[in-house]
Amino acid sequence: MRRVVLGVLVGLAVVGLLGLGQAGTSLVLTHASSLQNVALTILGDAALAPAIMRATNSKALVDATFYRISRLDEVIPAGAKLFIPEKTWAQAFLAVWDPNRVEDLFGGGKLVVGSWWTAGGEAEGLEALFSLYRDAYPDVVIVNATVAGGAGFVFKAVLKPRLIAGDPPDTFQLHAGLEVEGYSPEVYLRPLDDLYAIFGWDKVFPPDLLELMLYKGHYWGVPVNIHRSNVLWYSKEIFARYDLKPPANWEEFFQICEFLKGQGIVPITLANAGGWEAPHLFETILASTLTPEEYRGLWTGATPWTHPGVTKALEILKKILDYVNADYSAHTWDTVLEYIAAGRGAMNIMGDWAMGWFMAKGVDVGWAPVPGTQGVFVALSDTFAFPKRAPNPINVIGWLEVCGSKAGQIAFNMRKGSIPARTDITPEEKAQFNPYLQSCMEDWARDAIVPSVMHGAAAPESWVVDFKDAINLFLVTRDVAGTQAALVAAAKAALGK
Ligand code: GAL
Repeated sequence: MRRVVLGVLVGLAVVGLLGLGQAGTSLVLTHASSLQNVALTILGDAALAPAIMRATNSKALVDATFYRISRLDEVIPAGAKLFIPEKTWAQAFLAVWDPNRVEDLFGGGKLVVGSWWTAGGEAEGLEALFSLYRDAYPDVVIVNATVAGGAGFVFKAVLKPRLIAGDPPDTFQLHAGLEVEGYSPEVYLRPLDDLYAIFGWDKVFPPDLLELMLYKGHYWGVPVNIHRSNVLWYSKEIFARYDLKPPANWEEFFQICEFLKGQGIVPITLANAGGWEAPHLFETILASTLTPEEYRGLWTGATPWTHPGVTKALEILKKILDYVNADYSAHTWDTVLEYIAAGRGAMNIMGDWAMGWFMAKGVDVGWAPVPGTQGVFVALSDTFAFPKRAPNPINVIGWLEVCGSKAGQIAFNMRKGSIPARTDITPEEKAQFNPYLQSCMEDWARDAIVPSVMHGAAAPESWVVDFKDAINLFLVTRDVAGTQAALVAAAKAALGK
């Protein structure tokens, strides 16, 4: 056996590793061979032949020097140039490929990517992932199937009927955590456990995140980032002009608000056109009036929603409403940041995708934890999922690989305003990120981590919607007791107690 393998190897000329493009090796056959023989010789497994056929045909679509393979059992002639993908990709191919889909052996086609990333920073981050994907798979046409609307409430509503109708995108944005429950993953999504093992993702992401990703014992998405929800952004120019310091607690915060109001500046800018931005603000306040332990307990039933910390949080939100821009219901999270960029608004509380927006617009902005949340990191993660009925399943492999890769996570996150989820970022790689993101990486490693509710990490979708509705009503009624009762009822409906 060993002699046979060596014999074939001698007959192959390895052309070399490609710089750009899918990772793998080009080689020219010096004598005729079956694909199975090539697969056995180079990759050590004859069963990987279909992966070589697919990878070679993908290359042939954009580079005529590659041989076009028309059948799996074809005898490939001497002189044919093949492309041998990396073994991990070949194994992933085999795991994903349905042998009834002969068309998947020919390369090309589309990759339909569903997300809600349309705003400044988000769009640039997504484009950076696309660019890496295009370098590796130039035969595939990417379809950027975005549905605008922060936090994905519009996107999710559009996606669900498409999943049910069997007409999903090839891959889509999914928050890590209980959000996945809303998609009945065991029916509509492909579990990714095998791909996790093949690509080693179960080793490169932090254990807490991996645990958050597990739903019904399976992984359903590949994380691209970690976002922080509890950040106070402030205009450096306004704070310098009045010699203000970022507020460490709510008392200082309201003193600053009162002062700035007197100067004709909007103290704290708010958006709520999407209906999730004010509830987002509220989750960050809850993280300030409860300990991390108590906050976590809200979502497990260990902390009753009758807790005085919840009352206090509602009172703080009520007071904040006295200092916000009157047009908040017309603004989305990104458009309201123009207030800060233009020096008409002093502060904003939003997740750090706002940093992505500030970077994209070239605005130098100050940041601090939301008052009272020093040492607490309200976390969420964006992942990409793989629908069972993805129309171009083979094209999804490379996409998930890019999302989970170091290169992908670095290129994406430095534009998106988030940090890599991977744990193997070196100090040199960290230094490529802006000062906010570097400080965020340090906080992520040091702070108490609690899950965001508005971005899928803490609770199932039905509870998130009840929470959201209660806070939206509160904006109108400003009724602390009534809203707390609604939050108690929402928890009861979700937890059954
Ligand atoms: C979050 C998402 C972020 C960001 C934000 C605003 O839900 O996780 O990546 O896009 O919405 O759109």
